[in-house]
Amino acid sequence: MSFSIGPHEITVPALLAPMSGVTDLPFRRQAQRLGAGMVISEMVASDALARGRRDMVRKAAADASLEPRVIQLAGREAHWIGEGARIAEQAGAEIVDINMGCPARQVTKGLSGSALMRDLDHAMTLIEAAVSAVDIPVTLKMRLGWDHDSLNAPELAQRAEGAGVKMITVHGRTRQQFYKGVADWSAVRAVRDAINLPLVVNGDIETTEQARLALEKSGADAVMIGRAAQGRPWLVGEIGAALQGTPRPNRWSIKIEALQAEFDEALEFYGEGLGIRMMRKHFASFADGECGHMEADRLRQIRTLLCRSLDPSAVRETLAKLLDYPPHLDRAAA
Ligand SMILES: Cc1cc2nc3c(=O)[nH]c(=O)nc-3n(C[C@H](O)[C@H](O)[C@H](O)COP(=O)(O)O)c2cc1C
Repeated sequence: MSFSIGPHEITVPALLAPMSGVTDLPFRRQAQRLGAGMVISEMVASDALARGRRDMVRKAAADASLEPRVIQLAGREAHWIGEGARIAEQAGAEIVDINMGCPARQVTKGLSGSALMRDLDHAMTLIEAAVSAVDIPVTLKMRLGWDHDSLNAPELAQRAEGAGVKMITVHGRTRQQFYKGVADWSAVRAVRDAINLPLVVNGDIETTEQARLALEKSGADAVMIGRAAQGRPWLVGEIGAALQGTPRPNRWSIKIEALQAEFDEALEFYGEGLGIRMMRKHFASFADGECGHMEADRLRQIRTLLCRSLDPSAVRETLAKLLDYPPHLDRAAA
């Protein structure tokens, strides 16, 4: 089930989606350590990166522990995408991904993200600028189209392949759907039929069964998992291993240790105040998604502490305590 992106062989067919505000470096490190086939940075605004804006430079940091190091760029002008790609490559990126899928109004009103799917000639100028600016592979992430009357992902993918793009990811929704309805994995098959590149299917994949179905319906080479991985840095690797026929469900202790490591790294990466706040959405998702076996009062206490405390040692203590409440000590068993 492996495939290549230029010189990089991807052996695990499950990738972590780029998510602004979520897939920061501390989170990506855990996801990769726990077996994700590839992890992609949060989107980096190419013009802001080129101007040296600090938050974008931090997001574009290429970390030696990641393999391959993938930086995603967003933008609306060929010049800035080219500049952004060049800077990312210089900073150590091994793959540049271009974002043509983001539906957020803030992004599309600036004519980037999925708004680029409304004008493929213009979109192609960005792709060509990135490909010609760097020696590393360029990949592309998109939706099915702007709306259901313009499902032009196959055309964009085919033209991108012609321009030298090395992998295509398709989220099985249109921009106008935002996150409503369900992702249409079958609709991604039209992209499969249009290109000979590695294809990744994305949208609403949370379990191995869904991943199998998404691969079957779309004909893609790999799945990409986003929201379901928040608070669960082990999930992508776990699904990837199962798809490869070597399932290895992670023990409770491995999950808690991953959150502990992510917390420590977040504090180091952002500094204490911001780091503790950045972890809250991960802790909230973890508590809501993984702690249903706990007695309600205890869970409420733990969730409140993890998501409100500004004291790192209190958070560390709570995480250490969590090790004592594995799922087999659940209410049903009591
Ligand atoms: C909070 C959030 C931030 C996101 N940021 C990005 C981004 O920076 N770049 C991008 O290409 N997609 C972004 N996405 C879209 C995801 O990569 C993915 O395509 C989408 O969530 C569907 O996959 P899922 O159902 O597995 O979450 C974001 C999604 C969410 C929920």
